[in-house]
Amino acid sequence: MALGVRKLSFALGAEITGLDLRRPMDAAAAAEVRRIWLDNLVVVIRDQDITPQQQVAFGRHFGPLDDHKSLPFYRLEGVPEIFLITNKLVNGKPSETKDTGRLWHSDHSFTTHPTMASALYCKEIPEVGGNTLFTNMYSAYDSLSDGLKKLLDGLEAVHDIRDYAPFRSRNAEQRAEMHRINPAVAQPVVRVHGETGRKALYVSEALTFRFVGMTEEESAGLLKFLWRRSVQPEFTYRHEWRPGDLLMWDNRCAMHMAPADYAPGQPRLMHRITILGTPCGRLYSEQSTVRAAA
Ligand code: SIN
Repeated sequence: MALGVRKLSFALGAEITGLDLRRPMDAAAAAEVRRIWLDNLVVVIRDQDITPQQQVAFGRHFGPLDDHKSLPFYRLEGVPEIFLITNKLVNGKPSETKDTGRLWHSDHSFTTHPTMASALYCKEIPEVGGNTLFTNMYSAYDSLSDGLKKLLDGLEAVHDIRDYAPFRSRNAEQRAEMHRINPAVAQPVVRVHGETGRKALYVSEALTFRFVGMTEEESAGLLKFLWRRSVQPEFTYRHEWRPGDLLMWDNRCAMHMAPADYAPGQPRLMHRITILGTPCGRLYSEQSTVRAAA
């Protein structure tokens, strides 16, 4: 099946045309979508009028889906694979997912099974804004000098949910519980993509504050340089949503963030599915952490 492809930016992102996801996608079309996605890191299929079940069926072509047991309150009733990202009330209560993704990150890098892909379906979007930004982490790696690449190739960094800024302010009990569920992990600073074989930077301003074997203070300069380099405008794409967009990104080689670039009173509602990935990184023992004396 010949699908249409239109690049959305120089760095990453492509629109795929010729698909109506109300109908089952055959294996050849799914393989074609996967190829376009691997080449472009982010793909968007516009003007889809699909049910949650049809979104789930789309995702299953690419791998098994997460059922979001860790945050059950935000699962769509009857469809546990759909996670609600919204500023609207959920079950009559203010939503805790309304500020999801405010900092650059790659989904679930704080686990040893980070997700391969995420796919958002736009249900409601503010009149202006409510965008999502993406950046190409292959390009960020490729842009570095040979000397720095060599140094980074041998490094690991600690990814710890307790270091995520919105959680740092939580009380000690909550942070200990988060740590129990998601102990700190060490991830390679340079991740080799399992399908393309290409190298991508794998550190983020949301979750990475120290290299393994170094203090935060020692790590800060180089990490800040890498965060800045990763999100240089020429590596990025800013998606302006339309209701009916289904957008899927590759967490192995792209980061994303959702700025608060809209009027708080205006509703934004996304249905997210998460496609599970292969193991990456290792559990990181706190005994070996060298923390700066605070
Ligand atoms: C996320 O998955 O981090 C949220 C993205 C978005 O709501 O645009």
